[in-house]
Amino acid sequence: SRVVKLAVIPGDGIGPEVVAEAEKVLEAATAASDVTFEKTPFSLGAGRFLDTGDTLIDDDLAAIAQHDAILLGAVGGVPGDPRLKDANIERGLLLKLRFELDHYVNLRPSKLYPGAAGPLADPGDIDFVVVREGTEGPYVGNGGAIRRGTPQEVANETSVNTAFGVERVVRYAFALAERRRRKLTLVHKTNVLVHAGGMWKRIVDAVASEHPGVDVDYLHVDAATIFLVTNPSRFDVIVTDNLFGDILTDLAGAVTGGIGLAASGNINPDGAFPSMFEPVHGSAPDIAGTQKADPTAAILSVALLLDHLGLGDEAARVTRAVEDDIAARDATPRTTAQIGDAIAGRVRA
Ligand code: NAD
Ligand code: IPM
Ligand code: MN
Repeated sequence: SRVVKLAVIPGDGIGPEVVAEAEKVLEAATAASDVTFEKTPFSLGAGRFLDTGDTLIDDDLAAIAQHDAILLGAVGGVPGDPRLKDANIERGLLLKLRFELDHYVNLRPSKLYPGAAGPLADPGDIDFVVVREGTEGPYVGNGGAIRRGTPQEVANETSVNTAFGVERVVRYAFALAERRRRKLTLVHKTNVLVHAGGMWKRIVDAVASEHPGVDVDYLHVDAATIFLVTNPSRFDVIVTDNLFGDILTDLAGAVTGGIGLAASGNINPDGAFPSMFEPVHGSAPDIAGTQKADPTAAILSVALLLDHLGLGDEAARVTRAVEDDIAARDATPRTTAQIGDAIAGRVRA
C-alpha cells in the first residue's frame, strides 16, 4: 500500500474551519483505497507570528519540503492589524512557500457547476483554467523605496519576467490545452508593458508553432475582464502573469458562483518539490469563527491534490460529490461543517 506524506497548514481565520472539512472529505475519498495519508500539521500564519514572532523558519520550510504534497487553508490576519505591521505573512509565508518550492504553475480552474448561484443571467458553459505564473512578475519583491515619508518619496516594484520562467509556464499551458478543448488565450498588457508583454507574446508564438492543433488568442487584460463577464464560455486555457492571474481568478470565482467554490494548486510540475493546494480565497476575518465559510473551495482543492498525486478515481469521486451537493443546494443555510459532512457523505455513498 502507498503512503502519502501530507503537510497540512490550516492557517488563520476561516483557514482551519475549511481545512477541517477538506480533511474529512480526503478521509472519505481514500478510506476504501490502499493509499494512506500520513498528515503533519504545521502551525503557521498570523496566529503563529503573534505567538512567537516567527513567519516561516528554515526548519519548518525544510520539514514541509520533505512531504509529498501540502494542503493549505488560508493565511493572513485582519488587514490593518497594527500588531502585524512588521509580519507580512503574505510575502514571508505564502509567497515564500511558492517561491522556495518552485510552484511556477498556479493552476486555477473555473467551472460553473449546475445549480451554482452565479451572478450572470445567461452565463453559458463556463469551464476554463487559468494558468497563472507563480514565481515571477511583480511578486518577486524586486522593489525599493527612497525618501520615505517625504513629498519626494519614490516607491518601485519591478515586474521580473525571465525567458526561462515564462517559457516553462507557457509550455505547461499548451500541454494542458492539448488535453482540453485546444484553445489558449494569452492575457497581458502588451500595448503598455512592451518589454514584459512583448517577451510573453514572442514566447507564446514560438511555442504555438509546436502545437498547430491549439487555437491561440491574445487579449489585453482589461478586455479580458469584459469577456470574463460577458462571454466567459469563450475561454479554455488562459495563461498569464502572476499579478494579472491573481486578479482574474477572483473575478473568475465570482462569475462561477462565488469565491467559496474556487480551488487552486500551486504546482511544481518537475516534482522536485511538493505541490501545494489551497482555496483561492483568503482568511476572511469578517466571517472567521462563525461557521459561515463555504468549505467547497478547500474540498475542490483536495480533488486537485488527489489528481496531482495520480489518484484520479478518488479525485473524481470528490468532484462528483461536490457537483451533486451544489446541484442540491437551496436557500437553507448550512454551517461549514454541515456542508463538509454532506459532501463527505456523498463521497462515501
Ligand atoms: P478574502 O478572500 O479573505 O475575503 C474576501 C471576501 O470573500 C470576504 O467578504 C469573505 O468573507 C468572503 N469569503 C472568502 N472566502 C469565503 C468562503 N470560503 N466562504 C464564504 N465567503 C468567503 O480576502 P481579503 O479580505 O482581501 O483578505 C483577508 C486576508 O486573507 C488578508 O490578510 C489577505 O492577505 C489574506 N489572503 C490570503 C490568501 C491565501 O492564504 N491564499 C488569499 C487571499 C487573501
Ligand atoms: C492568492 C492571494 C495571494 C496572491 C496573496 C495573499 C499573497 O491573493 O492566493 O490569490 O496574491 O497570490
Ligand atoms: Mn488572490
